[in-house]
Amino acid sequence: MLAVSVKLSISALRSIDEKDYRILVAIEHGMSTREYVETRFIAGFTGFGEEFILRRLKKLNKLGLVQRTKQPYVGYLLTSRGYDCLALNALIKKGVIHMISTTPLGEGKESEVYMGVTPGEKIVAVKFHRVGRISFRKTKRVRGYIAEKKHISWIYEARLSATQEYKALMSLYKRGVSVPQPIGWNRHVVVTEFINGVELYRAPDPSNPRGILEKTLSEVEKAFRVGIIHGDLSEYNIMVAEGEAIYIIDWPQWIPSTHPQAALYLSRDVKRVATYMEKRFKLGLDPEKITEEFLRQVGL
Ligand SMILES: Nc1ncnc2c1ncn2[C@@H]1O[C@H](COP(=O)(O)OP(=O)(O)OP(=O)(O)O)[C@@H](O)[C@H]1O
Ligand SMILES: [Mg+2]
Repeated sequence: MLAVSVKLSISALRSIDEKDYRILVAIEHGMSTREYVETRFIAGFTGFGEEFILRRLKKLNKLGLVQRTKQPYVGYLLTSRGYDCLALNALIKKGVIHMISTTPLGEGKESEVYMGVTPGEKIVAVKFHRVGRISFRKTKRVRGYIAEKKHISWIYEARLSATQEYKALMSLYKRGVSVPQPIGWNRHVVVTEFINGVELYRAPDPSNPRGILEKTLSEVEKAFRVGIIHGDLSEYNIMVAEGEAIYIIDWPQWIPSTHPQAALYLSRDVKRVATYMEKRFKLGLDPEKITEEFLRQVGL
């Protein structure tokens, strides 16, 4: 269902021009201060005549990029497809991506990931963040901030989720933690290097499972020293690539190492991976002990 949404966003890109974008951007801006954006606001923002705007809005509505509301007053909203178009257009204009495939690499409740190509022909992963991505843990952490925003919307949440992930990836990558290289970001979309591998949960049996666990824990330790705890580490967020190299993906819910509950989050991440490895490969390890030892080693 969601996959169809980005697919349609990509095809809608072909039928909209610069003036349509101006109108979409006007609505995006309007939505930060009001619930529904009136044509008068769009006219003020773009300088276009109201009649012209109405004609374009009809077209954008047909493409599923905006939604028209009648109550309590006539106004317009950006749909998630409209928001996808704004982000894709910006990423293309900035030269971050050149093309994107219409077949998802991964899809779920919280994101859609597509393969893309940069103007330099590098293969990238293009991740669209969706509302609901923010976990309970993170909601708690940012609630105060959100509460201050009068018009908290899915746009804001999806963009926050993407920003958080990009920020983490930048620090981690710069400090040599094994994560996909961040390439660019706009609104709710994050572009990273494409990892040619599979998630640990569906990876074929490695020749050295103990090595996979050791490598993972070593990256988790490095990340902790950079100031970042993953917060949702599992066999679903560890990619195994050629030569049994591992990459840790999916960082929007990260927690700072200085968090008062850091020990709790970190031990949960470590124990989850150790437990999975023990269950699948029967290595004779004690996940409890590994976790305790890991925490001692990082000084928690
Ligand atoms: N850099 C990448 N290279 C290759 N594949 C990727 C990359 N990033 C993500 N993927 C694919 O997309 C899937 C989902 O990505 P990610 O884990 O970042 O998002 P998610 O929020 O867990 O999404 P979901 O809602 O599906 O759980 C991954 O499991 C992986 O298959
Ligand atoms: Mg994931």
